[in-house]
Amino acid sequence: MTTSPSPRRASTIRAVVIIAAIAVPLVPAGFWLGEVVPMMPAPLQAPELGLYMLARLFALTGFVLMFYQFVLTARLPFLEAVLKRPRMIRSHRLVGRIGFLLMLAHGIILLAMDPSLYTEKTLGLIALILLTVAVVAAWFFRPLKLSLKTWRSIHLLAYLVFPLVFVHAITLGATVTAYRPVWWLLVVLFGGYCLIVVYRVARISRSPGPRRDRAR
Ligand code: HEM
Ligand code: HEM
Repeated sequence: MTTSPSPRRASTIRAVVIIAAIAVPLVPAGFWLGEVVPMMPAPLQAPELGLYMLARLFALTGFVLMFYQFVLTARLPFLEAVLKRPRMIRSHRLVGRIGFLLMLAHGIILLAMDPSLYTEKTLGLIALILLTVAVVAAWFFRPLKLSLKTWRSIHLLAYLVFPLVFVHAITLGATVTAYRPVWWLLVVLFGGYCLIVVYRVARISRSPGPRRDRAR
């Protein structure tokens, strides 16, 4: 059983969580910026270079936002003590849309600039296809007339996407491979994802029957 913190303590913890959530994507963005600034004004003058750099920023931010999606939906008791579940689901839908559009733009830009495929890049392509299916099922479940069970099952594909994207980024990314703190950040986020998967599997195996408390 989790004891709820006092309202004052809860709002302090909430503020810290929100500030941390905003600060984390700024870490890879900062290293990315450190690379872009000395190149100036070249990325502004050469559209190809500018787009390539932008596509990398989209990917780094999208990766962090994707990690948040697992945290926001994991029903972690310590987080639910300070952030109400409906608020987390609302954030999940909004951040999920933004993150998805960033990752989509990243993939489309880099594929359009160089359509050749090799293993590490193909992993990104497979991840993007699976993610698109998972997100479209949740985003457009009404027009697609998908039942709750169907779109939720399709949406679970997101769990497959993160490991693919992790390997893709860690093997291919210029920022990730050049800057140790960015590399470590990705490793730590991936470790967090693994812990969430273990927690969720353990909870499912402990639960007595079908869950009825799922919110849309
Ligand atoms: C980067 C994109 C996204 C990822 C990685 C992602 C991932 C996830 C994951 C892992 C779950 C938990 C599934 C489970 O274990 O039961 C989930 C649930 C959910 N997702 Fe997403 N999602 C994304 C985008 C979206 C979008 C764009 C929407 C809607 C517009 C959405 C709506 C939902 C809803 C409503 C739930 C159920 C939450 C609950 O009741 O617990 N997701 N998502
Ligand atoms: C069609 C799909 C995709 C293609 C063609 C693609 C292509 C690439 C390429 C060529 C790079 C290396 C860029 C460089 O550093 O020089 C890269 C890096 C990266 N990709 Fe993808 N990718 C795709 C999908 C994804 C998805 C879905 C994600 C999810 C977040 C992702 C995340 C990353 C990350 C984080 C990096 C590292 C960026 C950096 O270190 O600067 N990619 N991708």
